[in-house]
Amino acid sequence: MFAERTNWNLAANRLSEALARRRASGAPLLDLTASNPTECGFRYDAESIFSALRNPAALKYQPNPKGLETTRLAVTEYYSSLGANVSVDEIFLTTSTSEAYSFAFRLLCNPGDELLIPAPSYPLFSFLGDILDVRLVRYPLIYDHGWQIDFQSLQDGVTPRTRGVIVVNPNNPTGHFVKAREMQALNELCAERSLTIIADEVFLDFGLSGASPLTFATNNQALTFTMSGLSKIAGLPQMKMAWLVASGPAALKRQALEKLEVIADTYLSPSAPVQLATPLFLEQRGGFQEQVLARVRQNLNELDRQLKAQKTYSRLQVEGGWYVVLRVPATRSDEELALTLLETSDVYVHPGHFFDFAAEGYLVLSLIATEQEFSEGVRRILESSFSS
Ligand SMILES: Cc1ncc(COP(=O)(O)O)c(C=O)c1O
Repeated sequence: MFAERTNWNLAANRLSEALARRRASGAPLLDLTASNPTECGFRYDAESIFSALRNPAALKYQPNPKGLETTRLAVTEYYSSLGANVSVDEIFLTTSTSEAYSFAFRLLCNPGDELLIPAPSYPLFSFLGDILDVRLVRYPLIYDHGWQIDFQSLQDGVTPRTRGVIVVNPNNPTGHFVKAREMQALNELCAERSLTIIADEVFLDFGLSGASPLTFATNNQALTFTMSGLSKIAGLPQMKMAWLVASGPAALKRQALEKLEVIADTYLSPSAPVQLATPLFLEQRGGFQEQVLARVRQNLNELDRQLKAQKTYSRLQVEGGWYVVLRVPATRSDEELALTLLETSDVYVHPGHFFDFAAEGYLVLSLIATEQEFSEGVRRILESSFSS
């Protein structure tokens, strides 16, 4: 009855089964996988959110494949604040970054065509690839005094069926920002081989260095689709508002915009109330981002303080984003370790393989968990190394 692309192994794994049992029992749990900003104790201005959603203009249906112009203007202002000059005509509003990915994949790929994706990275890609009939080929990010793209492997991964390269800037969960020289090398590789760059910048505003981040939104040496949205930059994933910005050599960009318009016109996804409220949501992002960055810094400091007192665990460098990678002894699988932590210490962490780490020996911790939860969770993780 069902298409082969849906032949997923839907059986629960040992970790998800143990988690379900734990949650059902109501036993306390320190959740260091927390990624939902609306459940991490951040303050939101509820009144102004509600009043922005009560705009009478929402009573009128004004279909536009790219989304309302006033909303796109607010998105251009977001990019202006990053020093990037994006035109309203180059923006498509979508209901999520995942939907923006689907537009780009459908525009670029015939069934079985390939896109290069970073590893480690975000687990949603494999489902997007299956659903959209795209074969995802991994290129490694390597860790050597910080993360970097392994360009040799990236180049070796290109085949006649490759249509583009996905970069996550900064990457989830490594926190690696694409550097100017990496952007240049990506441009050369993609322009030479007629590949498109797909840049996911949902965490762009969460850099820890304070330096202005490098965005792909105005990259014009190769055809480029840059995506972001309210989920992370304004901490409002429930509003379902994201966007895709097209840039690149003029003729290619024009063709891409025309074709994307047909795709977007077929769905007309974002709702009027949310589109109308988005300028205000974007205006308020500063208050949310300050809270997140303060939390991330505090949790990282606490982690470093606790790590200093022992020698078994260490952490990898973090340039930005909401996660930190803990280096742990690979004496057993990361899944075994995560399971033990859950069952004996009531701490839930993601094993590295969840994010496609090539080897054992990594756990991923959320830096947006509340300070108390994070500090106690880390204490129990480090304590468990003495008993194992
Ligand atoms: C790198 C990355 N891209 C995209 C998303 C999803 O964003 P959206 O809610 O806009 O689909 C996430 C969510 O965790 C993410 O980590």
